[in-house]
Amino acid sequence: MAQMTGRTAVITGAAHGIGRAIALTLAQRGCDIGMLELDMEAAQQVAADIKALGRKVTIQSCDVTKPDQVTFASAALLKAMGPCDILVNNAGICRMGDLLTMDETDWRALFAVNVDGVFHVTRAIVPQMVERGTGAVVNLSSWMGKSGHPGYGAYCATKFAIIALTQTLALELGPKGVRVNAVAPGLIVNTVMRDEAEDYMQERGLPMAADRAQSIPLRRAGLPQDIANTVAYLASDEASYMTGEVVNVTGGLWNG
Ligand SMILES: NC(=O)c1ccc[n+]([C@@H]2O[C@H](COP(=O)([O-])OP(=O)(O)OC[C@H]3O[C@@H](n4cnc5c(N)ncnc54)[C@H](O)[C@@H]3O)[C@@H](O)[C@H]2O)c1
Repeated sequence: MAQMTGRTAVITGAAHGIGRAIALTLAQRGCDIGMLELDMEAAQQVAADIKALGRKVTIQSCDVTKPDQVTFASAALLKAMGPCDILVNNAGICRMGDLLTMDETDWRALFAVNVDGVFHVTRAIVPQMVERGTGAVVNLSSWMGKSGHPGYGAYCATKFAIIALTQTLALELGPKGVRVNAVAPGLIVNTVMRDEAEDYMQERGLPMAADRAQSIPLRRAGLPQDIANTVAYLASDEASYMTGEVVNVTGGLWNG
């Protein structure tokens, strides 16, 4: 396991679920942590856990859909923490509904958080990596960013977009010393997003995560820690010859 002592990581949406596990894992490996979050109360709890690990932590209240907020909050984070070595674009939402009938507000909200958010935060944090000729970005896509799923069309479209952004940024920034990769998680439980999806499935009599886990080759749903381990690897020097990759972490649910 690579130690990352002295590195500084900015993570979006680190108050819950996968983002929280990523923040704690990077802190355990020696990183100081900056958080851009909507839910400040939950973020404070994660910050306390990070401090208990002996790392520095800075939180900025920020809605990643709002470019002005992202610019202001990112500048404040960088001022407080110094240069940022690692950016994890994790904040995301899921809204379900068939494409022909889904609410247009849900469509817009998905793209605003899952795609525009990544665009805004990347443009606010990455330029100082380019200036220093070093850095690593990890984006959260999904196995649903690799194939369509009924009821998840808009969410899938945003996660396909993350792969396009990752591959393009990797080509643009590779010559400047910045690596850009993505993780494509499968069915991950113990997150707010999964709890909301479970409610949707239950209402429609569709199979719940526990049932679906039986058809996953590794016979279990994933946990936030499974994703955090891969994000930490991609952000570390152990992955120094990887860029533009989208790594499946699905227990074999998806291998395309
Ligand atoms: N849970 C899964 O099964 C799963 C599967 C594949 C991919 N993912 C992806 O992993 C990422 C994390 O998902 P999760 O399941 O941990 O979700 P979660 O709902 O548990 O956590 C999402 C976090 O993002 C924050 N957030 C939401 N909107 C925001 C905004 N506008 N600005 C700032 N912060 C905002 C929330 O406050 C929360 O802390 C997402 O990008 C998601 O698409 C999750």
